[in-house]
Amino acid sequence: MFAVVLFCIACFAYWCWCRQRAKTAEPPSLPGAWPLVGHLPLFLGDGCKIWNQINYASDHSYDVGGAVKINLGPVTIYFITDPDDCNTIATTCMEKDPVYDVTKPWFGESLFTSRYEVWKNDYKLLSPAFSQIILNTFMDVFNSESRKLVKEFDKHAGKGPFDYFTSLRHNALNVICMTALGVGFTDSNLASDYLHAADSILNTVVERFIKFWWHSPYTFTWSRLKKEQDSYLKILHKMSDAVLQKRKSELFGNTCVEKNIAPGIKFKPFVDILLELSVEKGAFNDRQIREQVDFMLAAGHETTPNALLFTMVLLGSHPDVQEKVFSEIQEVLGEDKDVDKMDLSKLQYLEAVVKESLRIFTVAPAIARRLERDVQLKNYTLLSGQHCFLLLCGLHKHPIWGPDRYEFKPERWFEPSKLPGNLMYAPFGLGRRHCIGKTYAMMSMKTTLAHVVRSYRIKADHTKMRLKYLGTLKPDNDAYYISIEKRT
Ligand code: HEM
Repeated sequence: MFAVVLFCIACFAYWCWCRQRAKTAEPPSLPGAWPLVGHLPLFLGDGCKIWNQINYASDHSYDVGGAVKINLGPVTIYFITDPDDCNTIATTCMEKDPVYDVTKPWFGESLFTSRYEVWKNDYKLLSPAFSQIILNTFMDVFNSESRKLVKEFDKHAGKGPFDYFTSLRHNALNVICMTALGVGFTDSNLASDYLHAADSILNTVVERFIKFWWHSPYTFTWSRLKKEQDSYLKILHKMSDAVLQKRKSELFGNTCVEKNIAPGIKFKPFVDILLELSVEKGAFNDRQIREQVDFMLAAGHETTPNALLFTMVLLGSHPDVQEKVFSEIQEVLGEDKDVDKMDLSKLQYLEAVVKESLRIFTVAPAIARRLERDVQLKNYTLLSGQHCFLLLCGLHKHPIWGPDRYEFKPERWFEPSKLPGNLMYAPFGLGRRHCIGKTYAMMSMKTTLAHVVRSYRIKADHTKMRLKYLGTLKPDNDAYYISIEKRT
């Protein structure tokens, strides 16, 4: 009898040990690793290949407890898709992962890249520039620039598929300059050069991260990539310098007109807050101001145009949804009225379309956090010092969304009981360091879509689109082109 009891105790102790070991184990490795180089061969290649591998890792992680590990040579990266684990990391790890360092030649210590200690202070100073009361004053710009876009589209109406992405990007660049950066920008050659340089530098940034031997500044200095990056940086900085110079001469030359947004409250663009804080309190030096402007320019043109592109393709591929959007716009706005802040809250179906589009095509598919200590997740332990990516795209396609998770169904947003919960939807990031431009982006995208859908019937086929990952999600072939017909 004593032997049986002893045996049971031993079995129980072994079971506890196994459970504990599983919990303290790192996430399992993604299948397909090679000796020494690990998963490098899977990721070496263009942005399409990287995007396919991110999806492969994401799908695999669902089957193994919401986390997988990949190795690029000696570099270990965790991909996390479990919603609770993503939340744990986003709320407890406040430092950005060292992967953001590869963008520092461009963005320096901007809000996006800065250390938590610096971020806390800067965020407090700069976040008022994105308060609702300020954003409401941008409605005129959102409307007038949307009307310009509609006019620009006019020459393509009834003439078959056309590339509207370039127009969307130019438009977004104008909008960010005229709102957060407070200047009307007219140099279209510089804008074109800027957009080309921004695309190219993102290619070099992603390539550097994959090719781990260029992580070190010492090896990178001698690389072809460094030379390429330096030439793009010159153009990118030329743009931010031009914006700053223009705004400074307006602001300090007293030619600037401050808008009254309410009795006694003036509308101050983001850049004015930066410049005034630097003059009055010495809070930012010239380099720091330029870095914040550099990121604002990038965030403004690198995100909303992509999201609009995908939304227009989805609308063109789902005529029934498009007609519902059109009816709602007719009901709320009538024939030709500008969109105002009250209208935005009434355009509920359009809002659901944009949310669903960001779920299907998650423009910022991943964010990353630095692991400064071991982090205990539900099933695994992440080891301090490794890279950690939270796959927002993985959250959005998680089986919890149901068997129709790959389908574009804006209606799902009207059935809260069937939605899987807040943690499953995070196109603008998670935790305290989520997107400061979220409301700005939603307001500007809804305004643009209202003007475009009111004017044109869109046709497209999203199934033929190939996608690539270059920090953000982008189309890789011309299958994203849409055709438009004028609505009578
Ligand atoms: C569809 C549009 C957009 C998407 C999907 C998006 C997504 C994101 C995400 C996921 C982050 C978090 C990054 C991280 O955790 O590392 C972020 C941060 C940020 N975004 Fe956006 N964004 C969008 C539009 C914008 C716009 C229009 C602006 C500026 C006007 C902007 C400004 C920023 C800034 C400044 C940060 C850094 C915030 C901080 O760390 O405090 N974003 N964005």
